[in-house]
Amino acid sequence: MFSEISPAMQQVMRAMEEQLARDQRSLRSVDSDVARVLSMLALAAPAGAFLELGSSGGYSSIWLSIAAKLKGVKLTTVDLDEKKVALARQNVANAGAADLVEVHHGDAFDFAGRTEPLAFCFSDIEPPELNAKIYELVVPRLVPGGWLVVDNVTSPRHQKQFIERAYSDPRVDCVLLPFPKGDMICRKC
Ligand SMILES: C[S@@+](CC[C@H](N)C(=O)[O-])C[C@H]1O[C@@H](n2cnc3c(N)ncnc32)[C@H](O)[C@@H]1O
Repeated sequence: MFSEISPAMQQVMRAMEEQLARDQRSLRSVDSDVARVLSMLALAAPAGAFLELGSSGGYSSIWLSIAAKLKGVKLTTVDLDEKKVALARQNVANAGAADLVEVHHGDAFDFAGRTEPLAFCFSDIEPPELNAKIYELVVPRLVPGGWLVVDNVTSPRHQKQFIERAYSDPRVDCVLLPFPKGDMICRKC
């Protein structure tokens, strides 16, 4: 799937990676290996909608668009910050993925609280502790075999309570991958 990434998309990804390397605070995008895992999990998801909470500049959205294209679905992504939404729309369009990604300006909690069944959700809002609240809204919506990935579980703060909650939740199987900032990967039973 990754060997077929278009030159235009590669160029956008590289530019965002370089920006992140120069300034960690600007986009706060996931690391490229995290993005690859997200895309591979999304591709392995059952039938259903794709949702991302926290678009920032659209880096993870672009990686997820690769899986969305192969699955024949659209990714819905949302961000509170109007400037980030405009930037994400521009980056997604430059990457040639505008028909695969709908970038919304809005609150993640409104989108997480909807009822459409979800096959894949990436929750990456800030402060990271809010993703524990998103977890409670998203897990009931996941179809069996659907994925929820929560970023920043161990950094900047170790979210012990959330980690224990996910590991002891009989509705999901989960694993905490250390990665740079800790990603909790949950699969609905
Ligand atoms: C860590 S960045 C997302 C990075 C992005 N997923 C990526 O890897 O390219 C977090 C984003 O969440 C957004 N955000 C924070 N609270 C939010 C909320 N309640 N609803 C939607 N977006 C929110 C911020 O504006 C910021 O752009």
